[in-house]
Amino acid sequence: MEKDILENLEESRVMTTEENEEDSSFYALRPKTLSEYIGQSKIKERLAITIEAAKIRHEPLDHVLLAGPPGLGKTTLANVIANEMGFQIHTTSGPVIEKQGDLAAILTNLERGDVLFIDEIHRLSRVVEEVLYSAMEDFSLDIMIGKGPSARSIRIDLNRFTLIGATTRSGLLTSPLRNRFGIQLELNYYETEELENIIKRSASILEIGIDEKATKMAAMRSRGTPRVANRLLKRIRDFATVNRHEKIEESDALQALKTLEIDDHGLDSMDRKILKTIIKHYRGGPAGVKAIAAAVGVEPDTISEVYEPYLIQKGFLTRGSRGRQVTENAYQLLDIEYDVNEVNKLF
Ligand code: ADE
Repeated sequence: MEKDILENLEESRVMTTEENEEDSSFYALRPKTLSEYIGQSKIKERLAITIEAAKIRHEPLDHVLLAGPPGLGKTTLANVIANEMGFQIHTTSGPVIEKQGDLAAILTNLERGDVLFIDEIHRLSRVVEEVLYSAMEDFSLDIMIGKGPSARSIRIDLNRFTLIGATTRSGLLTSPLRNRFGIQLELNYYETEELENIIKRSASILEIGIDEKATKMAAMRSRGTPRVANRLLKRIRDFATVNRHEKIEESDALQALKTLEIDDHGLDSMDRKILKTIIKHYRGGPAGVKAIAAAVGVEPDTISEVYEPYLIQKGFLTRGSRGRQVTENAYQLLDIEYDVNEVNKLF
């Protein structure tokens, strides 16, 4: 424990895995190996081959970029990769690394083969990002010391490490950074069946039974996202506990979903508020994300990275150059009359 504290002090910008997760209680539910990891089969196949090849050659793994909406398991996968390679993982995130020196401190602490996981890598500042280029490519750092005429550049050699970067959208990355990742993987929303398997696995770790109907119901309302599925499972388990059920039943799931105001599509009250706002204030759109964010009271980034991707995937929203627009399905969902003439007036 003391050692942990000292290490954290030393690498003040590096968080432990637990601290990085919004809810540390998910830690126990995380798979540790590729074979325990459910879903994302194409990604697992690619990783399995690359990891095996790197191990046979006794080389560190190429840099890996993981892209996809929040909660799909990018952090989990980074930990799985480090574990499968048998190397240490150091976790940090883009906004936390403020200065070149912060990144230099982290990089010079890495042992050969270590994994550096940078979450939200698209939020690195340009100056920090530039230091990363030579670190990724030549495993060296060029740092300017001092200012003005006495300024000089020093070169520091680094141990060969693997950078794993995570981003909610690969399009947010500058191309020089993106191009330095040898392995680029795009995570997709999970199928209901995969989420059912994740829920069953999590229930078994939490040492509670769950029947088929409750499993399916939770899986279908989890926005294709394991983090949401696990969170929902915990809330459903609360109802089972209070109802004195030994095993989670459909009625527990129904009660939890009703309390959480989650509908048949897995949409919650904020999803519906966003759609309603675009319809009521912008006649269905197009509406800018900042305006929508101000109206519903959440950060624009949260709208575009958390809510929108799922609403788009479900066919309730489209994202164009002029802004966000709801679809006819959204009107049906909210039981609001869709007036074609009203919509056409805008074009
Ligand atoms: N828990 C969260 N994500 C998971 C996944 N992809 N597989 C198994 N358990 C998980």
